[in-house]
Amino acid sequence: MGLISAPRNCWYVVGTSEEFPTGELTGHVVCNRPIVMWRAKEGDVLAYDDRCAHKRFPLSKGRLMEDGTLECAYHGMRYDVTGKCVLIPSHPTGPISPQAKLKPFPVIEQDGLVWIWPGDIAQAETRKPPRTPEITDPDWTTVVGEAMDTPANYMLLIENLLDITHFYPLHDGNIGDVANSRIPIELDEGEVDGNRYVKTIRKVQNYEQPPYLVDWFHYETVDREHTHCMQSPGMTRVVMRNAPPGELGGGLAKGSVERGYVLLHSHTPINDRRHIWRWYMSTPVDHMSAGDPSMPAAERAATMFPNVVEEDKFALDQQQAMFDYPEEDYQEVFLKPDKGLRRARQIVQEMLREEQAGRQQAQAAE
Ligand code: FES
Ligand SMILES: [Fe+2]
Repeated sequence: MGLISAPRNCWYVVGTSEEFPTGELTGHVVCNRPIVMWRAKEGDVLAYDDRCAHKRFPLSKGRLMEDGTLECAYHGMRYDVTGKCVLIPSHPTGPISPQAKLKPFPVIEQDGLVWIWPGDIAQAETRKPPRTPEITDPDWTTVVGEAMDTPANYMLLIENLLDITHFYPLHDGNIGDVANSRIPIELDEGEVDGNRYVKTIRKVQNYEQPPYLVDWFHYETVDREHTHCMQSPGMTRVVMRNAPPGELGGGLAKGSVERGYVLLHSHTPINDRRHIWRWYMSTPVDHMSAGDPSMPAAERAATMFPNVVEEDKFALDQQQAMFDYPEEDYQEVFLKPDKGLRRARQIVQEMLREEQAGRQQAQAAE
């Protein structure tokens, strides 16, 4: 099986709320769709096809005018906040074709993130973006990593996240070791807000924590629960809870004995071979790290975690390059711990089949 395309009927992160200040144009590509975005004076983030209706010039290279219209930098056609062309400089008094308008994309701003729906507008209400409350909750410290343009299919990242048997050897000596790779997996599946999720759960007792985790979360020997959940093809949520043996169970929160993180990863496909990967590390606000007691655990982790991410990026890059060879008689082997990522693939493929069936139905109805 070759690369898996990304479903378009899904919400994907395009940035944090702060990355959309009023009046600044940005260009994005999500699932092969070029998109121009900006925050209008009224406060809403807007998204339209980035191709000018006249001759495709990217509108994200244009400018926003005092009156809130968007001017194309090529021949100066201006569009209002509804995406309709309202001025053509070369014939200012002439009629404007009703076709001179931009295709809109639904946008949701929620919990400090801006999400876009690159798919069928009629389906946009059937799903909602996953909630990410820790990002804006004052009881948590959150550090948002850089947006990383990653030259690999987005599904390779989801699979990497659901599979921590790669902690040995890829992350051996920082966040992983071989004992970690041998922790058995439980699987949970379900649906939240129209998104089918798959979650791997790894529980272990009396586990000797690898060095980075002792640095961030203090305890050397722990009972631990580590979960990885593909909440949708756009977001994976990782939660790690550690406590001294026998003390796990109270939950991860301000003042808790449990220490650990909520670590979100957004994976926003650009095309079949590239995606934007971003992580969001949250720890309870009063949990300081052991490595630097003046630093909240999330901040300390954020200084060290990029080493781990580099190792994953290396693996994704290498894997992606191997997809350039024809499949021929090559076949992947699935190991027992791969059951989570296997389900993730199946869910995404079912979403793609549903989309295709929807398109065929729409065509038949035309
Ligand atoms: S391409 Fe935009 S006005 Fe001509
Ligand atoms: Fe990894």
